[in-house]
Amino acid sequence: MLVLLLLLAALSIIFLVILSKNGKKQRFRRPPGPKGLPLIGNLHQFEPLNTHVYYSKLGKTYGPIFALRLMSKPMVVIQSAKLAQEVFQTQDKNFCNRPFTVGRKRLSYDGLDVALSPYSDYSKEMKKILIVHLLSSKKVNLFASIRHDEVSRLIQEVSSLSSASKVVNLSQLILNYASSTSSRIMFGKRYSDKEELGSRYHSLLSEIQTMFAAFFYSDHFPLGGVLDKLSGQSSKLEKTFNGLDSVYEKIINDHLNKNKLESEQEDIVDVLLRLMNDTSFAYKLTMNHIKAILMNLFSGGANTTTAGVIWALTELIKNPVPMKKVQEELRSTVQNKGFILEGDLPKLEYFKAVVKETCRLHPPSPLLIPRETVCKSIIEGYDILPNTIVILNAWAIGRDPKYWKDPEIFMPERFIGSSMDLKGKVAMSMIHFGGGRRMCPAANFGLASLELVLANLLYSFDWELPDGLNMEDIDDTNVLPGLIMHKKQQLCLIAK
Ligand code: HEM
Repeated sequence: MLVLLLLLAALSIIFLVILSKNGKKQRFRRPPGPKGLPLIGNLHQFEPLNTHVYYSKLGKTYGPIFALRLMSKPMVVIQSAKLAQEVFQTQDKNFCNRPFTVGRKRLSYDGLDVALSPYSDYSKEMKKILIVHLLSSKKVNLFASIRHDEVSRLIQEVSSLSSASKVVNLSQLILNYASSTSSRIMFGKRYSDKEELGSRYHSLLSEIQTMFAAFFYSDHFPLGGVLDKLSGQSSKLEKTFNGLDSVYEKIINDHLNKNKLESEQEDIVDVLLRLMNDTSFAYKLTMNHIKAILMNLFSGGANTTTAGVIWALTELIKNPVPMKKVQEELRSTVQNKGFILEGDLPKLEYFKAVVKETCRLHPPSPLLIPRETVCKSIIEGYDILPNTIVILNAWAIGRDPKYWKDPEIFMPERFIGSSMDLKGKVAMSMIHFGGGRRMCPAANFGLASLELVLANLLYSFDWELPDGLNMEDIDDTNVLPGLIMHKKQQLCLIAK
C-alpha cells in the first residue's frame, strides 16, 4: 500500500512538473517596451516628425525589437539586420500585410492599389503588371532617352541661373525634374510646375504623403469618426482625395481622348485601360482600380528620388574631400564628352559608393511602409499577435554600430570593394527598398533617375555655399510628415 501511495505521489509530481512546463511554454512573451497609459497606450510618447530617431533611442534601452501600443493597436518595432532578415525572408509570409488605416483605405479606393492594401492575389497580379509594363530592367532601359532629356533641361536651367549669378534652389529643381521624368514615363505627359496641372500636382504630392501617415481616431475606436470630424482630419482627407481624384481623371481622360499613332509605345495607363476592356483578364477592372494604381505611381516616383539627390548633395557639400574625389572620378572617366550617359555609370565606382553611403545615412523612406502580421508569429523568442503593426527602422539599421564602423560619418570608401547593394541582396543591413514579397518593385526605376541627375550635376558644376552662409548653416535635420524623409530646409547653392 505504501509503495502504491509513493508511486501515486511520484506520478502526481511528474504530472505537475509537466503541467507547469507546458504552462510556461504557453505563457505569452511580449517583446519589451515602454509602459503605456490605459486606453491611449504609448500615443502620448510619439514624436511624429522624427519617429525614426525616437525609435532608435528606445532601441538603446529595449534592444532591437520592442513593443508599443497605439491606442488599441499592438505594434512592434524592429531595428537590426538579423531580425529584418527574419521578417523579409524566413517569415515573410507571416509579415506581408499592411495596416489598412482610414487614410490609406480612402486613398486606395478601398483597397484597389498595390502598396497600401492587404496582401492578396489581386495585389500580386497588379504588381506583376507594373513590373512587366513599367518597372522591369528592360522597360527602365527603354525610358533612358526621357531621363536624358529631362536631365539636359535641368542642366540648362542651372547654367542660366549660374550665368546670372543667381542662387540655385536645388530642392525645387530636383522635385520638378523627378516629377516631370516620372509623369512622362508613366503617364506619357510632362506635369512639371510650369505646365498644366503642374503646381497642383506638386502640392498633392506632399499632401498625399502626410495623409498616408495621418492619425485617425476611427482607426482605434468605433465612435472615433466624430473626433476625426471635429479635429478636421476627415475633411483634410476628403480634400486630398478629391484633389487626387481629379488629377487621375484628367490623366485618364487625356489617354481616352488622344489620337494614338500606331507606332506609339503604350504607357502604363494605356495598358490598364486595355485590361479594363479585356474579358479574359482575371479581374474586372473599373476606373477606380486604375485610379488606385495611379495613386501608387504618383506617390512612389518623385519624392523618393528628390530626397535621395538632395541628401547626396547635402552630404557632399559638407564633406569637401569626398566631393573632390567624386568630381575627379566623374570628370576623368567621362572627360570632355559634356554629358554623362547611363552607360557611363557602371564605370564610376566611387560615385556608386557615394550613392550607397547617402542611402545608408538617409533612406528616403526611413520606416519603409508599415507591415502587419497575418498570423501569430515568434521573433527572437517573443510572441507577436496577428494584426500587429510591424515597423522596420531602416534608418536605425543603417546606423547600427554593430554593423557599421563610425556609423555617423559620411564615408563612401566603406563601400569600395564591397559587394553590398541597396536591395538587401548581400545583407539586410541596408533595406532601402524593403524586402520579401512586399519589396519595392521599382528599385531599378528609382535608382536610374536618381543616379543620372546626380552624376550630371556633379560633373557639370562646382557647388558653393551662397555668400554669408557657412557649413554649419546647412542643416541636416529631417522632416517626416509622411513616409518620406526630406531635408527640413531647402538646399540652395551657387553653381560654378
Ligand atoms: C529611390 C526610390 C524609391 C525608394 C527608396 C522606394 C522605397 C520603397 C519601400 C521602402 C517600399 C516598401 C517595401 C516593403 O514593405 O518591404 C516600397 C514599396 C513600393 N514602391 Fe517604392 N521606392 C522607390 C521608388 C518607387 C517608384 C518610382 C515607384 C513607382 C513607379 C514605386 C512603387 C512602389 C510600390 C507599388 C510599392 C509597394 C509594393 C508592395 O507592397 O508589394 N517605388 N518602395
